[in-house]
Amino acid sequence: MIQPTVATAAPRYTEQVVTHKTAWGTEKLFSLTVTRPPGFKFVPGQFARLGLALDPAAPETPNEWRAYSMVSAPNENSLEFYSVVVPNGTFSPPMAQLRVGDALWINNSVFGFLTLDAFADGDDLWLMATGTGLSAYLSMLRDPATFTRFKRIILVHGVRYAIELAYRDELLSLMQRHAGQLIYLPITTQEPLTQGLSPSLSLNSLAPARLTTLLRTGELEQRAGVSLDPSHARVMLCGNPEMVTEMRGLLSERGFAAGRRGVPGNLAVENYW
Ligand SMILES: Cc1cc2nc3c(=O)[nH]c(=O)nc-3n(C[C@H](O)[C@H](O)[C@H](O)COP(=O)(O)OP(=O)(O)OC[C@H]3O[C@@H](n4cnc5c(N)ncnc54)[C@H](O)[C@@H]3O)c2cc1C
Ligand SMILES: NC(=O)c1ccc[n+]([C@@H]2O[C@H](COP(=O)([O-])OP(=O)(O)OC[C@H]3O[C@@H](n4cnc5c(N)ncnc54)[C@H](OP(=O)(O)O)[C@@H]3O)[C@@H](O)[C@H]2O)c1
Repeated sequence: MIQPTVATAAPRYTEQVVTHKTAWGTEKLFSLTVTRPPGFKFVPGQFARLGLALDPAAPETPNEWRAYSMVSAPNENSLEFYSVVVPNGTFSPPMAQLRVGDALWINNSVFGFLTLDAFADGDDLWLMATGTGLSAYLSMLRDPATFTRFKRIILVHGVRYAIELAYRDELLSLMQRHAGQLIYLPITTQEPLTQGLSPSLSLNSLAPARLTTLLRTGELEQRAGVSLDPSHARVMLCGNPEMVTEMRGLLSERGFAAGRRGVPGNLAVENYW
């Protein structure tokens, strides 16, 4: 007699383990390094869906999922994620409580189009982020291939306070390693930028200003020492959706547009909420 086959769905996710945790000098920001599932492939700029088991009645079953950009480069053995703790958030406060050895679930699929293949080659790559929008760019900057495609890379990171300039030491040392090719441009909105950076970076006090204001006034280009010309610049925007909308409007007035139907553009964006 032929036995009926019972279809067992392959799990859509795997359980991984936290191996390292970094606090960024403010209780609001942290990073987690976790084991990497076998065969988990991604392109810098893509994101994973992370799961937590928040129902005490089912501590082995993830029931809340959120998108997180990979910070780690594709060739690293582990995965790294960078997070803000949203006050009263469902996911980020318990994620911030995780300790080394705790479980974190990862969906098998990766997602996202904020990747460098959105662009034709160009001279200047502008990576503009607010807050944790930096995550996606860290993966790109840790990947040596990024530096072979563009003559100059300008990373603009906007935060409220200098203490929120996470990964600044890594970015400063990358800037030294790629001297003349990588420009790291931190900006603060709630205090002047006079501290919190390496003393090796000579920096006059910079007035607090939003990215949008700096673009409107021309000070962004002035601070970078690079003109933002749509004929040879490629721009990515990532983070706060209001920033993305306003910046997209300002940039479109200057001739920047996303690609369409397989034709690469010079603008790519991702909203974090
Ligand atoms: C494609 C994508 C990639 C993402 N990558 C990251 C990442 O690398 N790091 C990260 O911290 N978050 C990232 N997020 C946001 C993340 O998925 C969660 O929203 C975040 O962890 C908060 O979850 P929550 O349940 O605590 O709050 P939620 O209920 O999800 O959000 C509540 C509110 O908090 C605010 N908020 C949410 N996320 C952020 C944020 N990142 N920064 C500032 N305010 C925020 C918004 O006002 C939102 O309405 C990403 C989101 C998307 C869509
Ligand atoms: N850190 C705080 O003091 C504070 C205060 C209230 C709420 N929160 C909450 O804490 C969470 C994380 O906050 P976050 O500071 O990491 O992220 P965020 O709120 O996205 O702010 C990050 C940076 O983006 C700037 N920004 C916001 N909207 C913009 C726009 N339309 N154009 C250009 N720049 C813009 C902010 O400038 P501005 O400073 O000018 O807004 C800030 O420098 C959020 O849930 C937020 O609501 C934080």
